[in-house]
Amino acid sequence: MLEEFEKIGKEAIAELKQIMDLARLEEFRIKYLGRKGRVTDILSRIGKCPAEQRPQAGQLANKIKKEVSEAFEQLKVSLLAAKREQSQEFVDVTLPGVVPQIGKKHIITQTINELLEIFGRMGFAVAYGPEVEDEWHNFVALNIGPEHPARDPLDNFYIDDNILLRTQTSTIQIRVMEKTKPPIRVVAPGRVYRPDTVDATHMFMFHQLEALVVDEGVSMVDMKTTIDQFIRVFFGADTKWRFRPSFFPFTEPSAEVDLLWTDRTGKESWIEMGGCGMVDPNVFDQVGIDSEKYNGWAFGFGIERLAMRKYGITDIRLFFENDLRFLGQF
Ligand code: DAH
Repeated sequence: MLEEFEKIGKEAIAELKQIMDLARLEEFRIKYLGRKGRVTDILSRIGKCPAEQRPQAGQLANKIKKEVSEAFEQLKVSLLAAKREQSQEFVDVTLPGVVPQIGKKHIITQTINELLEIFGRMGFAVAYGPEVEDEWHNFVALNIGPEHPARDPLDNFYIDDNILLRTQTSTIQIRVMEKTKPPIRVVAPGRVYRPDTVDATHMFMFHQLEALVVDEGVSMVDMKTTIDQFIRVFFGADTKWRFRPSFFPFTEPSAEVDLLWTDRTGKESWIEMGGCGMVDPNVFDQVGIDSEKYNGWAFGFGIERLAMRKYGITDIRLFFENDLRFLGQF
């Protein structure tokens, strides 16, 4: 009997050594350690031994059970670990890498940089001004009187009695002239705010590029030539544009600049880029520049409009939705 016990133990250990996977290990467990398993069976046979052999048989049976169970558990742990390792993702170093998304400047920023570059080549310095302005810089000094419809509180984002979000970059003309003696030759980009209902061509916030030239003997020819040069460089040499007579309180005479636009169906129309004109002597008087000695010209163009015309964008809202499918195209 004892020899038979030993034999079962040896067979069990030998068999365990052959096992390479968890399925076969489970078969082994049923065969040896299960309820009717061979090792389990040994224990129940102790009682059938002659009484004097029982203590020895009991010891041996327990020893075998312990050995086989321990060897079984050990193998189980290492097979499970091996399985876990296998199922883990392995790194295939031959795969092409994940291309990192590299950011770039927003199309409006790109456009502003291009504008500053073009005007820089024409000898213009760059000026900036605050977006929160007082009425003096936004209206009064620009010859926009208290009765002018542009001053209606409903057409402006007022912050306080006298303080509002600027509605135009023309404010920067005033700020520059207050600080600088002529000759002046500056462009000034920036955000402006108007409580307009948002649609394909209107936003409550957009960007303008202002220009101001003040010197002795400046004429409208200088203005027209500069604008024409700019349009040729920015849009292409064959771009058609026109002056349309207009009125602004801070220029006299005033004009609007329209660009010819051909849509996808071939239909042509004029679109307005902004206003311009010869600086009104009243404005010079407000900032203490001698209007007998100096004159000048100015313009204010919508930067979104410039970009829309250049890139064929038909909805201003696209600029500010931050959809990468749109922004990624520029
Ligand atoms: N500030 C005007 C606007 O926002 C545009 C403008 C017109 C600017 C004539 C100028 C100018 O500098 O001379 O509608």
